[in-house]
Amino acid sequence: MSFPAFDLVVRHARVATASDTFEADLGIRDGRIVQIGTQLPAGAREIDAAGRVVTPGGVDAHCHLDQPMAPPVRMADDFDSGTRAAACGGTTTVIPFAAQEKGQSLRAAVADYHRRAEGRAHVDYAFHLIVSDPTPQVLGEELPALIREGYSSFKIYMTYDELKLDDGQILDVLAVARQHGAMAMVHAENADCIAWLTKKLEAAGQTAPRFHGLSRPMLVEREATHRAIALAELVDTPILVVHVSGREAVEQIRWARAQGLKVFAETCPQYLFLSAEDLGIDNSYLGARCVCSPPPRDKANQQVIWDGLADGLFTVFSSDHAPFNYDSPEGKKPGGQEVAFRHIPNGIPGIETRMALLYSEGVLGGRITLNRFVELTATNPAKAYGLHPRKGTIAVGADADLVVWDEGERVIRNADLHHAVDHTPYEGQRLRAWPGLTIARGEVVWDGQDFRPPSRPGQFLACGAPTLLPRVAALPARTGTDG
Ligand code: URP
Ligand code: ZN
Ligand code: ZN
Repeated sequence: MSFPAFDLVVRHARVATASDTFEADLGIRDGRIVQIGTQLPAGAREIDAAGRVVTPGGVDAHCHLDQPMAPPVRMADDFDSGTRAAACGGTTTVIPFAAQEKGQSLRAAVADYHRRAEGRAHVDYAFHLIVSDPTPQVLGEELPALIREGYSSFKIYMTYDELKLDDGQILDVLAVARQHGAMAMVHAENADCIAWLTKKLEAAGQTAPRFHGLSRPMLVEREATHRAIALAELVDTPILVVHVSGREAVEQIRWARAQGLKVFAETCPQYLFLSAEDLGIDNSYLGARCVCSPPPRDKANQQVIWDGLADGLFTVFSSDHAPFNYDSPEGKKPGGQEVAFRHIPNGIPGIETRMALLYSEGVLGGRITLNRFVELTATNPAKAYGLHPRKGTIAVGADADLVVWDEGERVIRNADLHHAVDHTPYEGQRLRAWPGLTIARGEVVWDGQDFRPPSRPGQFLACGAPTLLPRVAALPARTGTDG
């Protein structure tokens, strides 16, 4: 008796990678791509992808799942619902955040976060760290050890009282990134400017959600972006500026690149598809649904972001999925109240809609190439965070994480989504495509109609060194008696 050569063959696919588009059959065994060619022998299962584009499964390198919040606020999505939504939207790897609380050890934060994810994720996952308390113990021992163990990226905040670092602390943390080859992600907004503007707005009784946008104008993002770039230059280490919202931060990043600095950048769907008007044109509380930071800007800035996606300025396109229910005392109405904008939990859902929005309006809208789409949504995030080539590409040896695209009109309705959030900010948005199949490690987890839980849960991925980076030499050995 002869056994099929493959567990699955995806046949006649129009395969797109970050560099090429070609017709091929994909032979899959034990969750990996083992052969790419034409007229491959039969598999135990066959999928005919004739006439359809097949891309790598998405790598969503910025999403928040079950991240502990100060009570009564709680994220609506845990690893079960969040990764179910990811799979149904074509994302097969997620990288959420293990966030250190001030006073907490980083190790404890990581252990807690593993408990939240283990056995509950439906796609593979890795963790970024959030460093909010860079004590000597964290800088000297915990962070270097965790980087070695597979947590090779971390986020630092320049705003939010409970998370922000001052410039000296940022320099200390960036020095660790340099020495140990980690990727530092930066949330760039000037905290003091925001606090000052917020006080003024509140004194004038301007507390409705739309004033959130006025408390965080582009200037505060521009200043912090410039400062983050300068701090990274001083330490001589790369940074990745996350959730870039518009022209002023983009200009800083273009300037840095022109100087030859290794400054990478991320943007997100909210800066393409939402605008300041979505925070409200009157004082309606409904705008709370779109309160995120930095806030969505105006339509002209959406074009600036599209330009940066097309011309290579942006390195990665992430969802920044931060799932809070609107009509909930745990969400946008903390304790059941409509609160002043400064107390509205920041963040919007988007893990399931990220891929289809960019494919529809980017690729099929003629704004970016199919290969650039793959680069932004899968290959570059996998490279930036040390998961490539296992993740983020279609190649022999890579995990069989694939999206088979269905082109055709569709409208985003929250009722059709699989997250646990009571709304989507993209309700009613017309799309030109949606994943027809999502395959994660060789198993169909989304069949175009239904989520199909994989036979075994998503696995934790230890990240290696970022491969987007040039090799950065170690800091010169320190002299003197302070070690
Ligand atoms: O408003 C946002 N972006 N919330 C999520 C947390 C963050 O800063 O990314
Ligand atoms: Zn942020
Ligand atoms: Zn975020």
